[in-house]
Amino acid sequence: MGVTQSSSATYRTACLDDVERMKELGVQGWETTYSDFVHEHNRRKYLNGDFWSLDRLREVVADPDAINLMAEQNSQVVGFINTEKLPDGRYEITRLYVDAETRGSGIGRRLMELTFDELKRRGASEVLVNAFGDNHAGRRFYERHGFELIEDTWTTVGDQTLSDVWYAVSLN
Ligand SMILES: CC(C)(COP(=O)(O)OP(=O)(O)OC[C@H]1O[C@@H](n2cnc3c(N)ncnc32)[C@H](O)[C@@H]1OP(=O)(O)O)[C@@H](O)C(=O)NCCC(=O)NCCS
Repeated sequence: MGVTQSSSATYRTACLDDVERMKELGVQGWETTYSDFVHEHNRRKYLNGDFWSLDRLREVVADPDAINLMAEQNSQVVGFINTEKLPDGRYEITRLYVDAETRGSGIGRRLMELTFDELKRRGASEVLVNAFGDNHAGRRFYERHGFELIEDTWTTVGDQTLSDVWYAVSLN
């Protein structure tokens, strides 16, 4: 996509220089939203693992099958979304984080809408997302945008076993 303007924020495709800020927003998201249910040592372990490594984020940004959008306000990146193509051809929103100071102003919704537009353009019919079962604000956000629970399972983070939920929404 080119550059899109909406409610004082600007949206653009991510580039390799964005990965450090992505990681920063991810760490902040984990510290603000997940600290209630993921213990500190497990948060640290996960954030230092492959999923949040700068190399992994660079791979995602460079992947032509992925959709990676950044939101900027006052020349500062305040949010981002990564959507990756799964081996079975479906798509998954793998990271969606908005700066804690800027949450609740529609940036998350716009990042998702722009992603949906691009997915439809590519002919995708469905998108998946995964959240911790105890991430109630995140779950409400997805449910308000039409996502339906498809699997209620468990995942391991360090030495904790945590509720893990999967949602899907049809793009048709
Ligand atoms: C989930 C998240 C991406 C949503 O981004 P956002 O920019 O706050 O989203 P929006 O402003 O579009 O919508 C947030 C909703 O919560 C409400 N809200 C109000 N104040 C809010 C606040 N301080 N924080 C979050 N949401 C708030 C909004 O009114 C809105 O409700 P609506 O959809 O009924 O209008 C963001 O809260 C976030 O980064 N959370 C931490 C990480 C996370 O949980 N990510 C999802 C991973 S599974």
